[in-house]
Parts: sequence; C-alpha cells; structure tokens
Amino acid sequence: MEDPSRTDNSPTAALNLEKIRSDSDGSMSGMVTGLFNQVAQGNPYFAAGGGLMILGSGLALARSGIIRLSGLLYRQLLVDLEIPSKDKSYLWFLEWMAKHPHRSSRHLSVETNFIQHDNGAVTTKFSLVPGPGNHLIKYKGAFMLIKRERSGKMIDMTNGAPFETVTLTTLYRDRLLFRDLLSDAKNLAVKSKDGKTVVFTSWGPEWRPFGQPKAKRLLPSVILDQGIKQSILKDVKEFLNNGKWYFERGIPYRRGYLLYGPPGSGKTSFIQALAGELDYNICIMNLSEANLTDDRLNHLMNNIPERSILLLEDIDAAFNKRAQSSEKGFQSGVTFSGLLNALDGVASSEETITFMTTNHPEVLDPAIMRPGRIDYKVFIGNATPYQLGQMFLKFYPGEEKLCKEFVDRASALNVPISTAQLQGLFVFNKDAPESALAMVETLKHPNHVF
Ligand SMILES: Nc1ncnc2c1ncn2[C@@H]1O[C@H](COP(=O)(O)OP(=O)(O)OP(=O)(O)O)[C@@H](O)[C@H]1O
Ligand SMILES: [Mg+2]
Repeated sequence: MEDPSRTDNSPTAALNLEKIRSDSDGSMSGMVTGLFNQVAQGNPYFAAGGGLMILGSGLALARSGIIRLSGLLYRQLLVDLEIPSKDKSYLWFLEWMAKHPHRSSRHLSVETNFIQHDNGAVTTKFSLVPGPGNHLIKYKGAFMLIKRERSGKMIDMTNGAPFETVTLTTLYRDRLLFRDLLSDAKNLAVKSKDGKTVVFTSWGPEWRPFGQPKAKRLLPSVILDQGIKQSILKDVKEFLNNGKWYFERGIPYRRGYLLYGPPGSGKTSFIQALAGELDYNICIMNLSEANLTDDRLNHLMNNIPERSILLLEDIDAAFNKRAQSSEKGFQSGVTFSGLLNALDGVASSEETITFMTTNHPEVLDPAIMRPGRIDYKVFIGNATPYQLGQMFLKFYPGEEKLCKEFVDRASALNVPISTAQLQGLFVFNKDAPESALAMVETLKHPNHVF
C-alpha cells in the first residue's frame, strides 16, 4: 500500500498518507475519517457506487412508502363488498347486473333459460351475465369496480359448482349504495317471480327450482266438494296469523295437513293452487322415490326455502317399509320411523306448512295421526254431483241446461268418476258440450283413452 511504484490506476495509488496524518489531530479516529474522505472523494468508482447505493435505497424507501400510502388510501377511501356464490344474493346480483345499462364488461357468461309454454312449445332466452374478470359499472352516479373470481380449487360440495365470489369496490363515501344495490337486485328477482309459483324439487341434499317459475294456478280452477277449499284455506290462514301464539307457548310453529283419496281427485292441484293463493312456493318430495333415504329426507325437511309449502306425496310408501333396504347395493327408501322423526324434527323459526297426500289411507299407521304430525285431515274423493256440475260449467260456461242433463246421466252410471276423468272428457270435447254429453258413457272406464 505504501509502495509508490504501484501503477497509477490502482485504487490505492491516490492515497496520500502524509496528508491524512497531518490533517488529522493524530488520534486514530481522526485518521480513519481522513482515510474515508480520501477514498470517497478521490476514488471515482467508489463515489459512483456510493451514489448508486443511496439512489437505490432512496427509491426502495419511496416505493414502500407509496405502497403503504396507497394501502392506507385504499383502506380509508375505498370499501369492498364480497358476495360469495353460496349466498342467495349472488344470483340476484348477476341477474341485476346483466340488466344494468351503465356497465363496461369484456367478459360475459351466458345463462340460458328455457321457457316451456302450456302448449309444449319452448322459447329460449339468453341472458349475458358478467363473466369472471373485472367490470366497471356506474350506479346512481357512483363508479363501482366489480370483480368476479372463480376459485380454481374450491368446489361447492352441495352442487359440484366451482366456488365463486363477486367483489364490489367503490369509494368510501358511496358505501351506502351497496345496500340500495342489493335491494334493487332482490326486488328485480322477486318481480320476475311475481304472480308465479316456484316449484322446488329435491336434488341430492338440496332443493332446486324445477324449471322456470310457473304461472299461479288459481284456486277457483280446482273444483272440490262444497266447503272443502274454504275450510282448508281458513285453517291455513289462521295458522299463519298466529305465529306469536305458538312462540309464546314454545310450541313448534308447524302444521301438517293430510289429503287422502283416490287418484286424480285434485289433491296435488289443490295444494298448488293454495300455494299460489297464499303467495308461497312449493317444495315437492315424493316419498316413493327409490334413492330417498331417512337422512336425506330429514336434511331436506329441515332446509326448506323460505315461504314454501312442503308437499310430501304418497306418504303410504313409507308405511310399507319398516327398515331401510339395501337391495340395490345402497340404502334406499324412507322408513316409517324416518318419516316420523323428520316430521317431529322440523324446527324452523319460520312457519312450516306440510301437506301430505296418499291414495291409501288404510295403510297409514295411527302414529302419524298424532297432532303435531297431522293436525288436519280431509278426504278428497271422486266427483260428487256438485263437482260434476261445476266442472261442466267451468268448461262450458252458461250451458246450465246441458249441465243438468250431464249431471243426471253421469250420476245414473253409478260408477266412481274422478275429476281428472271429467277433465279428460271435456278437453277432448273442447267447446262442444253436446259431444261431451253424448260421450258420457266413456266415464264408465276410468282409463278410457280418447
Ligand atoms: N278437483 C279438480 N278440479 C279441477 N281439476 C282437477 C281436479 N281433480 C283433478 N283435476 C285435474 O286432473 C289432473 C290430475 O289431478 P291431480 O294431480 O291434482 O290429482 P291427484 O289427486 O293429486 O292424483 P294422485 O292421487 O294420483 O296424485 C290435473 O290436470 C287436474 O287439473
Ligand atoms: Mg297427486
């Protein structure tokens, strides 16, 4: 280091030890400072490296500062709302957004709806809902960033669909608009079902809408014997108006109805019309279904969509089976005790109206008749003369004279006639009351094919 014969471009060549010694006060620290000053000032490489280092660390500091600041601003100025796909409002929101006019979306997904008309024709409607990705909308003057994300790994076990979330981001000051937006989305969804009855059927462990919501069946279109409709309707309404009474006494807020009688007498049709009248949806479950087990029945009965009537069809199927069989290699069929447990176990904070139907009341075990399981039971029979007349007039309004003749001749046949049979005869003779009258003999055969 002290060798002055070293080449000039050696980094140490410029060190002047004498100067350091004379500049410093002779102490060690003074000499080290002097040495540093010389190296830093006199060495171009070192000076450049130092400068870069300072610049680099300055930039890094600035960067982390910006990140922190933007995080802070984000937290202070923006709000997020997350809607997971499991939530009810998820589909409402997507539908709402599909119809929202002020949006910019580059990613769209298609959702196809089939609408089946009464004459069997099918119309298809596509709605383009926002697909996974980012979208920008303007709602009531505020901009909102919508991010729809699909989790690649997580799968919703109940329906096998990938788990998704939609995140809405907007300015903190506009956060109250989230509430308005969600209620708009809900109102839109409810409006599209206005005047309709949604029929749910069981799909694995959950209830799913069966097709599109159907136009409500009107109560007057179902013709039961005199007074039956009115008394059931009165009972159900009374039940619905007495929630407080039940809660105050700690009684489970549920009521079971049994409609029994021969096939084609209007049991199912009446329950559907009743649901329409009360503005309820309907959950239909057939107990004779092969792969329905006690566990599934119990789970489904305890997870009924709100404002729905539960309809258990063919409850006699459970009475033929005392134990679950495993004929097909898996446990199948609902057992009698499974049905009783499910009926007893239904404990919802909402009202539960259960309707049960059967063609074979004679096989029912008296245990099911206990109040709390079945509280109200009605026989819905074959057509009485009153029903014969009402059905005739429903199809041929104003034909009183022919109606009387029809009732006389049909009654004279002296055979049981179901209302479904009458419907068959009248549909075949649309707008032709005379021909219906002429064909009255066909009613002798319950399975007559026109
Ligand atoms: N009382 C009735 N009033 C009007 N239509 C009826 C009546 N009974 C039956 N129908 C008609 O007959 C068809 C079958 O009726 P529904 O399914 O309601 O009978 P059901 O009593 O439930 O029969 P099942 O016991 O076989 O289930 C429907 O299309 C319905 O419109
Ligand atoms: Mg039925």
